[in-house]
Amino acid sequence: MAIKPIRFENDTLLLIDQRLLPNQEVWLSYKDAESVAEAIRSMVVRGAPAIGVTAAYGAAFGADAIYAGDFIEFFEEFSDVCDLLAATRPTAVNLCWALERMKACARAHADLPGSELKAALFAEAHAIAAEDEILNRAMGAHGQVLIPDGARILTHCNAGALATGGFGTALGVIRAAVEAGKSVSVIADETRPWLQGARLTAWELMQDGIPVTLICDNMAGYLMSKGEIDCVIVGADRIAANGDTANKIGTYSVAILAKEHDIPFYVAAPLSTIDRSLSDGSLIPIEERSPGEVTHCGGHPIAPAGVAVRNPAFDVTPARYISAIISERGVATADFQTSLAGLFSR
Ligand code: MRU
Repeated sequence: MAIKPIRFENDTLLLIDQRLLPNQEVWLSYKDAESVAEAIRSMVVRGAPAIGVTAAYGAAFGADAIYAGDFIEFFEEFSDVCDLLAATRPTAVNLCWALERMKACARAHADLPGSELKAALFAEAHAIAAEDEILNRAMGAHGQVLIPDGARILTHCNAGALATGGFGTALGVIRAAVEAGKSVSVIADETRPWLQGARLTAWELMQDGIPVTLICDNMAGYLMSKGEIDCVIVGADRIAANGDTANKIGTYSVAILAKEHDIPFYVAAPLSTIDRSLSDGSLIPIEERSPGEVTHCGGHPIAPAGVAVRNPAFDVTPARYISAIISERGVATADFQTSLAGLFSR
């Protein structure tokens, strides 16, 4: 049973602190938009769908604290709350998608008394959370067909239950393959600098009893050259209309390695990750994070003080390296421009 990293109990949002896993399992409580925004910014919660769900709750808390004379005034203040939440992390489009959905919900209930409008916004956040797990299971059902029995699957970062409302995207496909009776094993890239693979993917797969082997990021090519990897599955933070895919830094290198070794490279993501307003991946904003994540590991300095650092948190894999994009509505293959558009009309 995969973990659910986001809970809502007694009018309180509960998030497992992903900065502390796997050494400590600490749940933090939230009741206002500002602290929810800080939780996303500081990566208490991370992963594109999970930050979308969390932001929806943040917006609902923000709405709850607004006392406006009329809907126009309410909506102005509510938009400011949504802007605050949207600014926390720029790459994952699910964040903006969820906030746009919350705004649409507010507009649709503009005629209701304030208390009912606020209740409708909490109901919408609950719906976004519940739907996310359902979508992941649908994605798993479509994607597991691509996974052969006995497959040794490389994954990068954490696109698991921890990164979503539950079950996972890339790890959801793997879980679905296991549920279908396939014997699969996972090779997890450690994913420097934040170590989502080592700390989170390894932890959640071990919790589920799915065989997992941890490697440093620079070992993937060697394992591929030895014939020890049968396919790659990763998640996504934003997919442009042509299929170019932003995901955790290092994904691009893995995709090129997979192409060189003729290994299928799959992306699993819900339609809410596809940004049809961007024609290609060069337009996707890439978050740059603090140098300290590179100069330090586990709180310890690993580089000379004052060294110049780059720390882009994501990279863009061109669509030509992607064998298929797995969504809740089915599997898209090249030409992605056409096949992704087709998913939206299914
Ligand atoms: O910086 P993070 O941990 O939020 O980055 C997460 C990823 O890159 C995931 O692969 C992506 O969000 C997909 S999660 C289902």
